[in-house]
Amino acid sequence: MPESKTILSVELGDRSYPIYIGSNLLDQEDILLPHIPGNSALIVSNETVAPLYLNKVKALLKSKRVETIILPDGEKFKNLEVLNTIFDALLSHRLDRNTTIIALGGGVVGDMAGFAAASYQRGVHLVQIPTTLLSQVDSSVGGKTGVNHALGKNMIGAFYQPRAVIADTSTLNTLDDRELSAGLAEVIKYGLIRHADFFEWIKINIDQLLAKHPETLLHAIKISCQTKAEIVAADEKESGQRALLNLGHTFGHAIETGMGYGEWLHGEAVGAGMCMAARMSSSLGWIQEAQVQDTINLMQQAKLPTMAPEAMTTEQFLELMSVDKKVLDGVLRLVLLKDIGQAVVTDNYTQKQLAEAIKASQPA
Ligand code: NAD
Ligand code: GLY
Repeated sequence: MPESKTILSVELGDRSYPIYIGSNLLDQEDILLPHIPGNSALIVSNETVAPLYLNKVKALLKSKRVETIILPDGEKFKNLEVLNTIFDALLSHRLDRNTTIIALGGGVVGDMAGFAAASYQRGVHLVQIPTTLLSQVDSSVGGKTGVNHALGKNMIGAFYQPRAVIADTSTLNTLDDRELSAGLAEVIKYGLIRHADFFEWIKINIDQLLAKHPETLLHAIKISCQTKAEIVAADEKESGQRALLNLGHTFGHAIETGMGYGEWLHGEAVGAGMCMAARMSSSLGWIQEAQVQDTINLMQQAKLPTMAPEAMTTEQFLELMSVDKKVLDGVLRLVLLKDIGQAVVTDNYTQKQLAEAIKASQPA
């Protein structure tokens, strides 16, 4: 019996692509195949996800030549050295320009496979099959690809859109609770930056989300992807409103780099980072203390950190934040809140105010 699915679209002219969302999509034969134009594919996955889902994806591609590469699992492997092993696989299997790279995994696999697709022979086809909540609501959509550098998170990469995103929500059944919470940070982000009503909905439904209630998760994924698709369609290369998607990320990326990649999950760092951005917005007089508390409460309910790591100093934060991609002509632009549901990009703050906001987020 066929399962139902939602199909959203990222509208980018002749590079527009569908996002399929639904349960058991990896059991449906007619979804993936039409997005593989040539006769070969390379599936990029990792040592955790491959044993769970690789055979399902291979079974959908029986009419194609399929090669695989299995990466080590973890944010600390999201680097140029491991990326190069994808190029080794592409070249040793003599895969040509009409091949399709299929990213099967979370955001780490998706970002690396995406960057390989962007650069192998100056660009081959890409399909994203995200298997974490975070990658289903955020990283698989919108075409940001890349790897980390020891000095800065996601500092090397390219914009490169997939031909399709296939978010099979059944894959979330095997995801552990900590990773689920990390994904909820990005879901909460969409409420904070753009949708006060969605923020309220998350508050009401947080227990159902944590319990992986299928219909509730499906709704959260749909609204998140819809929001991201609209923003990406309006500003693909982040010259304007796409920067709002980085609420909490400048603080968060500093945490990920400062603590060592993988110590804090990306979603955890972003969760704490959004609380830091809320505190700073309040100290600038833009939002009320009650709204900061509302943000912190929801983050706590989602089982996410709300304070900066004890091990990091204010000076370390300031140093790491100065390497952010939102630094333009030497000025760091921050994403802050004017209201719940209304984020802005601003450089209208002083270094002293930023330092005070960081201090206010450090455990006593
Ligand atoms: P991840 O890719 O490390 O996956 C989290 C963990 O879950 C890993 O151990 C993974 O092997 C495991 N896993 C994946 N799917 C599973 C499943 N179905 N069942 C069991 N285990 C599973 O982390 P993530 O949170 O998915 O992604 C974080 C990364 O995404 C970061 O590198 C971040 O920078 C990036 N990111 C990119 C964008 C973008 O726009 N490109 C946006 C947000 C985040
Ligand atoms: N995750 C931020 C973006 O895609 O722009």
